[in-house]
Amino acid sequence: MPSGDDPSPKLKGREIIVAVCGGIAAYKVADIVSTLVQLGAGVTVAMTAEAQKFVAPLTFQALSARPVRTSIFELSDSSDPQHIALTERADLMLVAPATNNTIAKVASGLTDDLVSLMVCAAACPVVFAPAMNHRMWENPIAQENVAKLIGLGYRFIGPEPGWLACRNVGLGRMTEPKEIVAELVKMLGETDSSPAKTPKKINR
Ligand SMILES: Cc1cc2nc3c(=O)[nH]c(=O)nc-3n(C[C@H](O)[C@H](O)[C@H](O)COP(=O)(O)O)c2cc1C
Repeated sequence: MPSGDDPSPKLKGREIIVAVCGGIAAYKVADIVSTLVQLGAGVTVAMTAEAQKFVAPLTFQALSARPVRTSIFELSDSSDPQHIALTERADLMLVAPATNNTIAKVASGLTDDLVSLMVCAAACPVVFAPAMNHRMWENPIAQENVAKLIGLGYRFIGPEPGWLACRNVGLGRMTEPKEIVAELVKMLGETDSSPAKTPKKINR
């Protein structure tokens, strides 16, 4: 945690799902998970198959001190499929980096991987932090998908203009981890902090 920041565990008792997708910025999400844990949150990480090509699940397992969820068919609880059990307990779900593919899947209602399935099943606010090439972001189909999701109450943080991994400069860079964490803390402050097992009312 950067010096000068309030070190109190202001997210103690809060449950956050961090869903990682297959973009270069996946490595920056390790920083987000670490900071949320330092702030006292319980963090469960889910990863798409493509995300695991960028960062190993072991990194997120070590930082969150929890198993990383990667498959729809791996049951964490014998009585309830994990996508239901995990999303019912969550106060907030962050999708980062949110790829064009995952945004499109969610906007179309597709649920053929654990991340899109968990977003669909979420009873908590869902926040996307997109990252992609600026032409992909500016593509009218992507813009239509984002507008649709915003209209449905999903929240977006970024993207920002700046240096992109494809060595271009443009609008598509994932918002810096520190700013994403600050936004999440703010959003969690807006929602109640009743015990995590209580299903949350959808308040996107
Ligand atoms: C090196 C590399 C970097 C990529 N970076 C991004 C990215 O930043 N944003 C994005 O939307 N797609 C990116 N892609 C493409 C995605 O990995 C691809 O669309 C994939 O199907 C996304 O799967 P997911 O949404 O299930 O994680 C990248 C691909 C490669 C090979």
